[in-house]
Amino acid sequence: MTGAATEWVPTGVDEEVPSAARVYDYLLGGGHNFSGDRVLAENLLKVLPARDMARLNRQYLDRVVRFLISEGVTQFLDLGSGIPTVGNVHEVAQKVNPDARVVYVDNESVAVAHSELMLRDNPNAAAILADMREPETIFSHRHVRRLLDFSQPLGLLMVGVVQFVPDADDPWAMAEQYRDALASGSYLALSAFTWDNAPEGMRAAIEVFKKSRDPIFPRTHAELMRMFGDFDLVEPGLVYTPLWRPERQGEALDASRSNLYAGVAIKP
Ligand SMILES: C[S@@+](CC[C@H](N)C(=O)[O-])C[C@H]1O[C@@H](n2cnc3c(N)ncnc32)[C@H](O)[C@@H]1O
Repeated sequence: MTGAATEWVPTGVDEEVPSAARVYDYLLGGGHNFSGDRVLAENLLKVLPARDMARLNRQYLDRVVRFLISEGVTQFLDLGSGIPTVGNVHEVAQKVNPDARVVYVDNESVAVAHSELMLRDNPNAAAILADMREPETIFSHRHVRRLLDFSQPLGLLMVGVVQFVPDADDPWAMAEQYRDALASGSYLALSAFTWDNAPEGMRAAIEVFKKSRDPIFPRTHAELMRMFGDFDLVEPGLVYTPLWRPERQGEALDASRSNLYAGVAIKP
């Protein structure tokens, strides 16, 4: 990487090791990725329709944020928020409600640096560099304390991220810690990689991601259902991303290219 392109690279980033954030950025047509990320993404495309997976996941995120806003949610905690692209959570939310508050969390410095840049003049949104596996660190972060009120309903987003948390780190216990911190009427929106649709492709994708800083751990429908605990899933339940409240014709046809289950649940 030479010339002006290096200006967006925060110090301390290892450009040799691909990251999920930058691979996703590349798949979505963004420009904040390195050659190693692009090689990994191209290898992924050989085994899974990764570009469609990324696009369909992003479209699900957009529908979810608009749904939550329509349900009266005015504050969001977005875990594994990624590199800003079109239709970021605060843009979608603040378009409808300029007072909506958003905290983005990611453990990848390129993602957080760009989120910070984008949010420079936005008093109602912030980005923090943190690991979602440490909920207490996130709850006590000054931006979280300043912007989010856990005594009121909140939209907790875990979109396209829990497949990066290994079973060994108990993502179910982690999800429970977040759920417990929320007020009644809060929502958990979650999407994640699954085996169920294309097991062979997913197995190959696991090998591809082993060469990145973010190995993947796809899960079954039942395993992902457990992340919602005693929250009530809203219709249509946990389904492939394009089947979650589709808005355009033919969206359902994409279900076989999704490979991510998605759902939204409310805390009773
Ligand atoms: C596939 S992107 C999804 C971005 C966005 N949520 C979306 O759905 O469009 C996954 C993001 O999760 C981040 N991530 C992975 N593991 C994480 C962790 N333990 N804590 C915080 N972020 C994490 C990655 O850095 C990446 O930016």
